[in-house]
Amino acid sequence: MNQPMYELKNVAVDLSNAAGTRRILEDVSMTVMPNEVVGIVGRSGTGKTTLMRALGGLTPITEGSLTLQGKAVTGPADGVVTVFQDYGNALLPWRTVAKNVALPLEGKVARSELRDRVSTAIEMVQLKGRENDYLSSLSGGMQQRVQIARALVLNPRVVLMDEPFGALDALTKASLQDVLLGLHEQNQATIIFITHDLEEAIYLSDRTFVISGNVSSGQPGHLSMEVPVALPRPRNQLTTREMPEYIALRHRLAEAIDLVPA
Ligand SMILES: Nc1ncnc2c1ncn2[C@@H]1O[C@H](COP(=O)(O)OP(=O)(O)OP(=O)(O)O)[C@@H](O)[C@H]1O
Ligand SMILES: [Mg+2]
Repeated sequence: MNQPMYELKNVAVDLSNAAGTRRILEDVSMTVMPNEVVGIVGRSGTGKTTLMRALGGLTPITEGSLTLQGKAVTGPADGVVTVFQDYGNALLPWRTVAKNVALPLEGKVARSELRDRVSTAIEMVQLKGRENDYLSSLSGGMQQRVQIARALVLNPRVVLMDEPFGALDALTKASLQDVLLGLHEQNQATIIFITHDLEEAIYLSDRTFVISGNVSSGQPGHLSMEVPVALPRPRNQLTTREMPEYIALRHRLAEAIDLVPA
């Protein structure tokens, strides 16, 4: 059997602020295989970003074990990149598209390799022709594509995405979902993403986890359901979303998240 990409066993995370220490996540166990696309859905404040930060090695876990390809995660690991929701703060507005994408590789590879990799990444997110435009002259959807290109230029083995398309309009969101699926088909990276959007989770993922809890009232976030998504690939914005299995999955997730009060 393949070695898992991530393995989490009974992970708990406590965080402290001026008000004291609180348990944010508890008893989180999951295994993510290489090349899988895994979605995590849950209400606001259930610890989704905290989980993503733990996976990225940005927040230490308090209990349990968290391994990446068999090695304990103790800090940011090579080949793991994070795409944040807030592209405005993640990018440098005074740099061009090409210079933003090049940033993580500058000084690390030869100039000619840098040029090639930047141009491939820009092509993958369909921004060819905009290389020399300044960030400030791009639309929100384009800026988010720049952030994705900047992650891809590293040829990552894992892409972590925290509500990557949350701030975008429905049509831009749909086209970026398809860009992401196309990239996954080409690159074989493992993708773990967080979303508030149940349909996005189903459309993109091989498996979706529901995270529940209410940290403010003393109930830490925990994985309350795992839903395999056995929809055929390649997925299609029209036909996939019309499939009875898709609609059944949406129903199941909506119930799990208490979308419709009983
Ligand atoms: N440094 C910290 N110290 C104490 N509590 C924190 C800290 N960071 C986050 N929290 C709390 O942990 C809980 C979960 O936060 P987190 O950002 O992980 O939620 P989330 O599920 O990503 O929410 P959203 O959907 O709104 O982004 C919240 O109640 C938050 O206030
Ligand atoms: Mg969050």
